Amino acid sequence: MKALILAGGFGTRLRPLSCTRPKILFPIGNKPLIEWTLQKLSKFGVSEVIFAVNYRAEDIQKFCGNEKYGIKISYSYETSPMGTGGPIKLAEKILNLGEDEELLILNGDIFSDVDFGKLGDFHKNHSTMHDTVLTITLFEVEDPSRYGVVELDEIGKILRFVEKPKEKPVSRLINAGIYATNKKIFGYLKDGKHSIEKEVFPILAEKGLLYGFKHEGLWVDIGKIEDFMLANFKILEQVSNDKPQLAENVEINSKAKIIPPVIVGSNVKIDEKAKIGPYVVVGDDVLIGENCKIKNSILFGKSTINAGCKIKNSVLGEKVFLGKNVKVGKGCIIGDHAVLADNIKIAKKVTVCPYKEVEDSILKPKNVF
Ligand code: GDD
Ligand code: MG
Repeated sequence: MKALILAGGFGTRLRPLSCTRPKILFPIGNKPLIEWTLQKLSKFGVSEVIFAVNYRAEDIQKFCGNEKYGIKISYSYETSPMGTGGPIKLAEKILNLGEDEELLILNGDIFSDVDFGKLGDFHKNHSTMHDTVLTITLFEVEDPSRYGVVELDEIGKILRFVEKPKEKPVSRLINAGIYATNKKIFGYLKDGKHSIEKEVFPILAEKGLLYGFKHEGLWVDIGKIEDFMLANFKILEQVSNDKPQLAENVEINSKAKIIPPVIVGSNVKIDEKAKIGPYVVVGDDVLIGENCKIKNSILFGKSTINAGCKIKNSVLGEKVFLGKNVKVGKGCIIGDHAVLADNIKIAKKVTVCPYKEVEDSILKPKNVF
């Protein structure tokens, strides 16, 4: 089976961290999202993956190369963003699907444990019985309004598809951004920029050619910072419920306190009386000074957090430098290479762009460009 991964989004809701990396390279439990996805695809027997890329394509190519986990990897490049329909049509030739060959299409920013095997079987059965062109994985959420919403009948046929409905949503079942399809889909896509959700799914639903496969379990679209943090928190609970997960060469002072769930990357040093956790991921090569307190936060890696810093409910990018006694309040996002001077306080919901130097306290929500 082949898979096409849509990986060209700008990740605007993840700025400023997405200014320096594409969404699929954001870390979940210290491992880039795409690694989780490729590992799962490999487990389900996918032998070939094509990435539809545009924004920061070179980062993706550099990281994934031409082969990972036994999967052959190729790239379909757009010169400008083509939405979610255009890139699929553009990849038609590279995909070169056989007559009955199945294709998985994934939104690259999804972190889930969807059973790709069951999805593929569901689609195969329904395309034989009902001529189904595409099967959408569905997931139930509390607030469906920021997703594609479906109305489903008892046998799994999608009667209606509405992308990000403005009116009251028809159900709480949403498009989970994971599809099984085959060659037939190309007949419904046009060349150039368009949205598969707005322009193609409603038509397929009207013609009775769109089916839904319900998923229950883990599912997060990491495209919003709160949800990116949630994906990390879910992994923290899975791997470190009562004991911290430590990579190699971690040095923790005997007077430091680690409160699980906590994941610590390699070559990390945690000094005396530091208190780390609960719900903290520390990336590789991070130095945490004495008396620091960090909770509910994600630190990407290669950062220096000097003595006496306090960080809560925040995300710090790579190579961030916090001087002594810096306080980072709830909901802050600190871009790569940012430098925060000694003794300053960054109140809640402050975002700092990459490479910025912050000299003074910021006491109200603000974006530092
Ligand atoms: N190659 C390419 N080119 N990929 C793109 C482009 C583009 O121009 N624009 C977006 N993408 C990729 C994104 O990187 C992401 O992996 C996927 O397409 C979906 O785009 P998002 O911008 O993340 O859309 P969304 O999250 O608002 O909505 C989509 O996902 C929801 C599930 O999380 C829709 O498919 C909804 O219907 C769905 O419910
Ligand atoms: Mg998304």
